[in-house]
Amino acid sequence: MSDNIEKVKPEEVESNFLTAKESRAISKENRRITDAIEKQRNRRNVAESEYTTQMKNPENVVEFDDLKTYFYTDIGVVKAVDGVSFNVPMGKTVGVVGESGCGKSVTSLSLMQLVQRPQGQIVGGEIRLNLGDKVYDVAKVPSAEMEKIRGNVVSMIFQEPMTSLNPVFQIGKQINEVIVLHNPGVSNEETKRRTIEILDTVGIADAEGIYTRYPHELSGGMRQRVMIAMALVTNPRLIIADEPTTALDVTIQAQILDLLRTLKDKINASIMLITHDLGVIAEMADYVVVMYSGRIIERGTAQEIFLSPSHPYTVGLMASKPAVNRDVDRLYSIPGTVPNPINMPNHCYFKDRCPRAFDRCEGEYPGEYFISPTHSAACYLYEDMDNAAKTR
Ligand SMILES: Nc1ncnc2c1ncn2[C@@H]1O[C@H](COP(=O)(O)OP(=O)(O)OP(=O)(O)O)[C@@H](O)[C@H]1O
Ligand code: SF4
Ligand SMILES: [Mg+2]
Repeated sequence: MSDNIEKVKPEEVESNFLTAKESRAISKENRRITDAIEKQRNRRNVAESEYTTQMKNPENVVEFDDLKTYFYTDIGVVKAVDGVSFNVPMGKTVGVVGESGCGKSVTSLSLMQLVQRPQGQIVGGEIRLNLGDKVYDVAKVPSAEMEKIRGNVVSMIFQEPMTSLNPVFQIGKQINEVIVLHNPGVSNEETKRRTIEILDTVGIADAEGIYTRYPHELSGGMRQRVMIAMALVTNPRLIIADEPTTALDVTIQAQILDLLRTLKDKINASIMLITHDLGVIAEMADYVVVMYSGRIIERGTAQEIFLSPSHPYTVGLMASKPAVNRDVDRLYSIPGTVPNPINMPNHCYFKDRCPRAFDRCEGEYPGEYFISPTHSAACYLYEDMDNAAKTR
């Protein structure tokens, strides 16, 4: 598959000045590539051995391994996620943080096979999903099989509950539907009992009363609780929460985060928490992954990232975070902009914004250098430290 990708070379094209002919040629080539991938994905009766694999560490629920998810657009290929690797250990919360457009949502949508197709495609790497008795590589799972995993093993809480809840159905009916979908044959009484129970679990006081209400009759915080109830009712192994509290005010935000933490422990699930809010990450995460322009530029335990942020971009993010105990006239913001995603340079993507850039940074994109066994940064500042540790 990756051979095909190289044939469209958007970096050779001035993306802002494409002629109609060039644009048509790109569209045609895109269609050829995406048709081939779609055909492969939509096959029926695929042998399970084609998409089962092994976890590197059975204590992880998910292992992203060199994931590449690209969008084939009329002006070229957007490498939205380009070689991302990280693990989500069982029972832990991994925070994924980074500026808007860095690839956080596309990473999680890849795990659910919900990237907008056909233009969006997983074109490389593995997403190993631990189902207990077996392990699937989500990058290769056929669409039909994926339906069973989605919402069952992995479920997702979105930012804006109003767009995910159906306005014309009662709350209770919508949760019932999820239960029935995942438990065919379950009785009506049992379904209703479970719905009331989960509404109760997510802290909705009058669960019986809410059962017959419509989404617009609920406050934002209540709707988000309903979304969490829907995500948890199937007892997933992993909950993906993509900006779960951004649309809520601060007090409700704190309550929802508290709820997520408690419930995660109760059902022993893991959380992949996506946000651009470092405050939320600090409160919730055990591990942190920092993304920039489709790649991971730093990762470590939450303590390592917050106490000793190392990549200059992470240092900038920390400085741009508002703090109650800091008296500042205006928030620091990292100067400059991210590179054009269609025309990524062949050097550190942060170089033009980096206050610490030096001669070495003119070279190719930096590798992953380790600062501790659990803490690494894709930055030349740590090359010597990593090399010294290896020769020790
Ligand atoms: N359907 C699409 N077609 C083309 N490009 C897309 C599509 N969806 C996402 N992208 C591109 O992929 C990149 C990553 O987007 P993504 O939504 O993952 O960002 P994000 O980190 O979640 O940002 P935000 O914090 O704003 O939610 C962006 O450059 C975006 O423009
Ligand atoms: S590699 Fe160089 S330019 Fe990139 S973040 Fe590190 S110091 Fe800055
Ligand atoms: Mg997003």
